[in-house]
Amino acid sequence: MWADPAELDAAVAVLSTLPPLVFAGEARKLTSDLARVAGGRAFLLQAGDCAESFDSFSADSIRDKLKVMLQMAVVLMYSSGVPVVKVGRIAGQFAKPRSADDETIDGVTLPSFRGHMVNDIAFDESSRRADPSRLLTAYHQSASTLNLVRAFAKGGFGDLSRVHAWNQEFVASSAEGRRYEEVAAGIDRTLRFMAACGIDTEATPQLHTVDVSTSHEALILGYEEALTRQDSLTGDWYDCSAHMLWIGERTRQLDGAHVHFLSGVGNPVGCKVGPSVSPDDVLALCEALNPDRIPGRLTLITRMGADTIAEALPPLLRAVQAAGHPVAWACDPMHGNTFTAPSGRKTRHFDAVLAEIAGFFRAHREVGTWPGGVHIELTGDDVTECLGGAEEILDADLGNRYETMCDPRLNGRQSLDLAFRVAELLQQS
Ligand code: PEP
Ligand code: CO
Repeated sequence: MWADPAELDAAVAVLSTLPPLVFAGEARKLTSDLARVAGGRAFLLQAGDCAESFDSFSADSIRDKLKVMLQMAVVLMYSSGVPVVKVGRIAGQFAKPRSADDETIDGVTLPSFRGHMVNDIAFDESSRRADPSRLLTAYHQSASTLNLVRAFAKGGFGDLSRVHAWNQEFVASSAEGRRYEEVAAGIDRTLRFMAACGIDTEATPQLHTVDVSTSHEALILGYEEALTRQDSLTGDWYDCSAHMLWIGERTRQLDGAHVHFLSGVGNPVGCKVGPSVSPDDVLALCEALNPDRIPGRLTLITRMGADTIAEALPPLLRAVQAAGHPVAWACDPMHGNTFTAPSGRKTRHFDAVLAEIAGFFRAHREVGTWPGGVHIELTGDDVTECLGGAEEILDADLGNRYETMCDPRLNGRQSLDLAFRVAELLQQS
């Protein structure tokens, strides 16, 4: 893929001297949070862009993504009473797997776009060239993004007293936004009630800060290896590019480099599994990625498609249950429901996304396992990329604000609406 191996070696050499983005202890903390998900005592909300961009990189967009995640988490927790583990597809989600190596437009064939960590989306030869200096740009953008995420999470923005401020204007005026305001008002009342009971809410840190972890697909192994460091406390190796890393549907081969690499690091890891996976494949992935059966170490992210999940998921759940593997199960209702609309735009229908989530909860209820979480592509922005939702976005509307660099994301209203639906399903669990 990289045209010049010497350039790649030089970039990786620099990366390996740069500071880690996260610490091993933070990754271990996330493993213990995810152990609660695996054990049926917490719910995972993993969400963010399909692909982060070097171009649309701003404090506002990071803040708005956090706002929508915090809103969703509040809705889920307030309605179900279940703690929510928040993990962003953020601060490192720059590399994309592609089904085809090349793309042809009007008779011109160029390498496919592989995410800003590798090349640029513009359709010309120099943009599509795989440029190793992008690995360094990805690192630096991840560092500044993570810095801001930490500042927002710990520096007052995540304070529950700010629950109203997370409602963005374009959302607040909608039905979902008003429903959210009712939840926020309920939280205000609860805080006042606790204070009236004599509980010192000021001195309760859980009310004033949140934990938001980072994650991305560990696709470009040269980048991941260069950021893999030995923990001075335990001697174990951690991929310090993010708290959690996942393996994509296209690179989950048992004898492949990605499974091999992630089996060797101590971070919590995810693995996508699509409709072609067999129960034996899943068990083999559990053995490869979590041989010591550490709860929270492995999250299986199913992405079956709304029409397939009822048939495809229960056999996997039963096999893992029978083998006694402690897996956190999450539902990615996005990637099995992507199609090209007549307008030519890649999209997903909100109803299919909801249908897959409902099928996920049904399958877990049938087998007696815990529907541990959701994995969503979303943005805080007011985009028109996915069809349907309360605004009833139509194919003809997609062109209005179709801004994604890769897959279509839910917008702020659709995301909040989804959180209310998931909260109802969670209440029934
Ligand atoms: C993704 O998460 O953006 C992705 C490419 O998913 P999958 O590997 O499940 O196709
Ligand atoms: Co995607």
